[in-house]
Amino acid sequence: MNPDPLSAPRHVRPRRGTAPAWPTEIQTVLISETQLQRRVRQLTRDIQRDYTGRDLVIVSLLNGTVMFLADLIRHLSLPLRLDFIGVSSYGVGTESGDLVFTKELRLDVRGRDVLVVDDILDTGRTLKRVTEKLRQLNPRDLHTCVLLDKAERRVEKIEADYVGFKIPNQFVVGYGLDFAERYRNLPFVGVLKPEAYQGGAPE
Ligand code: XMP
Repeated sequence: MNPDPLSAPRHVRPRRGTAPAWPTEIQTVLISETQLQRRVRQLTRDIQRDYTGRDLVIVSLLNGTVMFLADLIRHLSLPLRLDFIGVSSYGVGTESGDLVFTKELRLDVRGRDVLVVDDILDTGRTLKRVTEKLRQLNPRDLHTCVLLDKAERRVEKIEADYVGFKIPNQFVVGYGLDFAERYRNLPFVGVLKPEAYQGGAPE
């Protein structure tokens, strides 16, 4: 065991010449880190304006919102509560047909102002299912915020109240979004090269 844990980080140095493998698998950067930061700050300001003086509970969907949520709330100077719902579709593909709840809400949202945060609104099945479930808990009101909106693919009649970017019908990864649980740590939103899918191609 290290006798002085605080000194440990000084010994951890990034090694030169060990670039991560991801740049070779990315076809295009759709939304850069700078664009993401700028837009997320704007969303934060909008939410701050709309929720000042209210009893805000943010309900974030796991796992894709991890980076978006962290960036969104770190500048939100409002008293708020945070909780998570786990939603997953079967398999490692990209369809959201068979949804399972992998983590249930713990906070009581009855009479509260709930803002649901998700990474991407695609067919709309996930957000529709989650908002229906939350409405049964009688929040005072319920609004939604998504980083990305792929409107072309919509199947359900649902729109988000706060939208970061409208994007074309391309499967995207990065900034929390994954393909088969990979690429979540990319600091930008990008499109993968087809060969990166190795047979499990998304639609
Ligand atoms: P639906 O179709 O239910 O989709 O609106 C919402 C969930 O599906 C996943 N999804 C994606 N994940 N790149 C991803 O990494 C994409 O382009 C994409 N489109 C949909 C995602 O989990 C989202 O919450």
